[in-house]
Amino acid sequence: MFEQLVRLPDDPILGVMARYRDDPAAQKIDLGVGVYRDVAGNTPVLQCVRQAEREILAAQDSKSYVGPAGRAAFNDAVTGLVLGPQHPAVRDRRVRTIQAPGGCGALRLGAELVRAAAPGATVWVSDPTWANHLPLLGNSGLRIERYPYYDPAAHELRFEAMLERLLHAKPGDVVLIHACCHNPTGADLDRGQWLRLSEELARLRLVPFLDLAYQGFAENFDDDAAELRLMTGRLPESLSAISFSKNLGLYRERVGALIVVGESVSRAEAAQSHVVQIARGIYSMPPDHGAAIAAHVFADSRLTETWHAELALMRTRIRDMRALLAAQLREATRDDSFDYLRRQRGMFSLLGIPGDAVLRLSSRHHVYMTSDSRINLAGIMPDNVAYLAESILAATRAPA
Ligand code: LMR
Repeated sequence: MFEQLVRLPDDPILGVMARYRDDPAAQKIDLGVGVYRDVAGNTPVLQCVRQAEREILAAQDSKSYVGPAGRAAFNDAVTGLVLGPQHPAVRDRRVRTIQAPGGCGALRLGAELVRAAAPGATVWVSDPTWANHLPLLGNSGLRIERYPYYDPAAHELRFEAMLERLLHAKPGDVVLIHACCHNPTGADLDRGQWLRLSEELARLRLVPFLDLAYQGFAENFDDDAAELRLMTGRLPESLSAISFSKNLGLYRERVGALIVVGESVSRAEAAQSHVVQIARGIYSMPPDHGAAIAAHVFADSRLTETWHAELALMRTRIRDMRALLAAQLREATRDDSFDYLRRQRGMFSLLGIPGDAVLRLSSRHHVYMTSDSRINLAGIMPDNVAYLAESILAATRAPA
């Protein structure tokens, strides 16, 4: 049977990890996959996670199943952390949160739910968007369309073009929106644009699907959910995919959740019953260990405090690297063409350089990034930023 299969190309993001690993050069830089790195280049286990893990292991007396919706304590805490204490849909009991295997699992559950509810719906994603959005949403069988979002050469949002394109969506279509720290551009809508977008989605009867994978990486944990709260509070129905891979550093434990807001209590309940059945039919139940750790951190004020301090350190380090790289490039170019790096938020920015320059960066300078020239700012260290700036300029100016 497998003779029918041809080998597929590597994953556009995970393939960069492998190429970096296989490069024997002593001086090399990995700006590929989106994981946080500290100044020593490590992706640490957070102290709050270590402590929670110790306490859980000491107290745990069973490994029996939890259930397809995951831990109730985790789901309740996530609802509160993401939607906040005053959310009108929470007050009206129109919210259902279901634990998922990472933000990816939540995105796929959401797509399968849309497919069950409205098989003819199209999902509109930003151009550009995170490469894995396409298979995660599209492999459910839903049609995918793109709306303009960002001009990588001008380093500017294309908000008016975005609104114009969404006029082609039909009622009931779904619009995927990055809730903060847009991946791969680092460019987020401002508050006024979020308000206008909410109005447009309501007027066109479109359903927002918010992807919140970097809460805490832009301003602070609470403020980073403000726009998601705004939109899910103004629209009758919504989906939100939540990830704790980055902000709790729980990557491989796969900790996430899907938040569904329904127009009424009974519709929310019906949607939840479908999500639970979809989960049961794909992986049966989500892994528990990471969600147990997260729930433990959320429930313990001492661990929550440690977590927020650790999150602030990660955020500050990334901001510092943005400022440092922008300053190095400003000094070398004597212009402000890279200053956008300083203004953008979260782990990523798009250099907006051509594919052949990206290839030269890896082959000549051992600097690795995805082919769209996305860089992970957390892959930059104070002692390699000068080399990186020189390499970027050399690769973009060099003849092929
Ligand atoms: C990324 O964008 O690099 C991360 O979200 C990791 C991944 O799975 O692609």
